[in-house]
This record gives sequence, C-alpha cells and structure tokens, in this order.
Amino acid sequence: MKLFRSIVELQNELFEVRKSGKKVGLVPTMGALHEGHASLVKRSVAENGATVVSVFLNPTQFRRAEGQQDLERYPRTLDADCALLEACGADYVFAPSVEEMYPVEDKRQFDFPPVTTVMEGAHRPGHFNGVCQVVSRLFYIVRPDRAYFGEKDWQQIAVVKAMVRFLKLNVQIVECTTIREADGLALSSRNVRLTPEQRQKAPLIARTLKESANFAPEKSVQEVIDYVVRKYGKDRVVQIVTFGTLAARGVIRDVG
Ligand code: PAF
Repeated sequence: MKLFRSIVELQNELFEVRKSGKKVGLVPTMGALHEGHASLVKRSVAENGATVVSVFLNPTQFRRAEGQQDLERYPRTLDADCALLEACGADYVFAPSVEEMYPVEDKRQFDFPPVTTVMEGAHRPGHFNGVCQVVSRLFYIVRPDRAYFGEKDWQQIAVVKAMVRFLKLNVQIVECTTIREADGLALSSRNVRLTPEQRQKAPLIARTLKESANFAPEKSVQEVIDYVVRKYGKDRVVQIVTFGTLAARGVIRDVG
C-alpha cells in the first residue's frame, strides 16, 4: 500500500493503473477509521482492480462556531488508519494537507433542495455544501469508476448523488450497509465522544427507527408519534431523528 500526500503524484500513479485496464474504487473518509470504514474498503477491493482511500479532515464541512469545535475534537489517527487499510487490502491512501486540497478558497455553492435543506441540512447550514466541495474535488482528482459511501449517512448519499447528476460526473455511487455494535448503535468515529449516559441511550435511536418503520405505513402521523412516545418516552432527539428519517424516506407524510 502506498501513501500519497501530493495530488500530482497520486494522479501519475493512477494514470498507470488505468492504462493497465483496472477499475478504480474510491472510499472517501475523514480518518479515525473503524470496522464500518473497513467494510467499505473491503467491498471496493473486491469490486475494483485498485482502491484509493482518502483520509482528509475537510474543514469546509465544519463551518460555523460549533463546527469549529467539532473539527478540533475530531480524532486524528493516521498511523492506525494506515494499519487498518493495509489489512483490508487498500492499494493507495491519499492524505493531502488542507493547502494541497484548497490552494485557494473554494467559493462554489451547491444546493439541491429539498435534500440539502431538511434534517441535517437544516441543523448544520453549509455542511452539505462543504461535503460537495470536497467530494467533487476528490472525484476530479481520483476519477474513480465507483465511490463507496455508508448508508449510516443516508442523507449524505442522497446529496452526493444529486451532485453527481448536476455535475454529470461519470462515477457510480455504491451504497453500503451500516455496520452496528451488538446493541444496534451504528459504528461512527464520533462514538468515542459519547458520555457513558449518552452511549447507553444511543441504541434507542436505531431501535425506535426500526420499530416505527414497521409500524408507520398504515398509520397516521399522530399514531406514530403516540407510539414512539408510549414506547420510548419523550426524548426529543429520538423523536426528531425518528420522524425526520421516516418522513425523508416517505414512510410518513405531513410531519409538522
Ligand atoms: O462521511 C464522511 O466521512 C465525510 O463527509 C466525507 C464523505 C469523507 C467528506 O469529507
């Protein structure tokens, strides 16, 4: 496995890879890798002749004040990441500096309502714009045949697909199943930041979503709300995530 910090050097290498007829898979990450990322990388390795994993903590998707804190507290673990990627069979790690990725400020604006404006888009203005800025750059740099994203960030997949359609990029977006802990919590680099109390409560979100998705199709919105409150109490986070996700997936409609 080779590590690249320079765009031109990676592109020179990939030019030779493509010349030999190999398909290229890309797994974009921000590092702090875990078994969820490993599953994307293994799938890419199985489906492509060469797999590039980008490890880049993209500042443009952490814009406002709370975003800055999130960016500063995000775990940085490149050595451990490389060990995991090597074990998964990745061919190339691309870990550029911020200056390499953004030699000048990226002023492009990406907006694909409603998918960029609801749920996380409503609560983190500018976040999906930053995701589109960096993912489009990665696609221009690597020119992958396939790019792999986890369904854990389901809205991100929808945004990236809208961007690919808009920019007419020739890349297949491959959606990969969420990997979970035994109690149902989705693996995430940020889980290490949960307090013991939050960690204990977190699997409730997955459980509520799963059960309400089965319960909801034949019911009114009010019946779904009553069901969730009866079963799981009045926790606002659980309610917002449940209704937002069910609404976005079209399972329930007209959520106020
Ligand atoms: O999902 C992530 O880790 C990031 O949003 C991504 C796609 C790597 C872009 O920085």
